[in-house]
Amino acid sequence: MKISVLGTGAVGRVYAAKLAELGHDVMIGTRDISKTLKSNQKDPQGNPPFSVWHTAHPAVRVGSLPEAAGFGDIVINALLAKSALSALEALRSDLDGKILVDITNAMDFSTGFPPTFFIVNTDSLGEQIQRALPDTKVVKTLNTVSALIQTDPYLVASGDHHVFLSGNDADAKTRVMEILRMYGWQHILDLGDITTSRGVEMYMALWARLYPVLNTPFNIKIQTGK
Ligand SMILES: NC(=O)c1ccc[n+]([C@@H]2O[C@H](COP(=O)([O-])OP(=O)(O)OC[C@H]3O[C@@H](n4cnc5c(N)ncnc54)[C@H](OP(=O)(O)O)[C@@H]3O)[C@@H](O)[C@H]2O)c1
Repeated sequence: MKISVLGTGAVGRVYAAKLAELGHDVMIGTRDISKTLKSNQKDPQGNPPFSVWHTAHPAVRVGSLPEAAGFGDIVINALLAKSALSALEALRSDLDGKILVDITNAMDFSTGFPPTFFIVNTDSLGEQIQRALPDTKVVKTLNTVSALIQTDPYLVASGDHHVFLSGNDADAKTRVMEILRMYGWQHILDLGDITTSRGVEMYMALWARLYPVLNTPFNIKIQTGK
């Protein structure tokens, strides 16, 4: 399958590497190809320069954001959350008819940890992206776990924990579920339409409190009375 990942941060790299390892034809999209490939600076989280990562993953194509948006049958949004909406609006025609997997969280770390949330209660980033891209099938998923767990659920409790799906298009959710299963997810809960993104995005307020307390990879498991 042709899959694109938008954004060359920690999350974008994890996704691109994993999907290429699984045998997919992968393009990672960046705002400025030449700057990104030439930079010898670590990223803001202290990860090695992109060029170091790319040398280790030569099968991953590198393109501009419009090239990457046009390349994949499925496109993964791994952009900086605060900039994602405006960046995606500019790609609207490239993304028409495609499935866009949205893993972003409307979290603002500019005043440190814990983060604040810039969209809450009656809206979500998933919904805003779907409204901005009416001809794209947005599927919100994986935002509730950290990057390494997203593509390797076995890092926690042999994968015996949950991930969620939100989106308006049933077929798109089925396609995204196939990717989640390829990653190894066993428990996938479809919450309903894209408005259910509010729940998974606002869960991150609890995630941000668990993170410093647990200080180890973690996720939630849903158990019922049945
Ligand atoms: N980190 C996690 O464990 C985790 C977990 C769940 C969800 N998420 C979500 O995953 C997304 C990516 O996380 P990350 O840690 O990889 O983010 P990041 O490093 O802060 O940013 C990702 C990429 O966004 C691009 N970018 C930055 N500013 C931009 C702008 N003004 N316009 C367009 N693109 C811009 C950059 O790519 P280029 O420089 O190549 O253009 C950057 O590498 C975030 O939205 C986050 O909420 C992260």
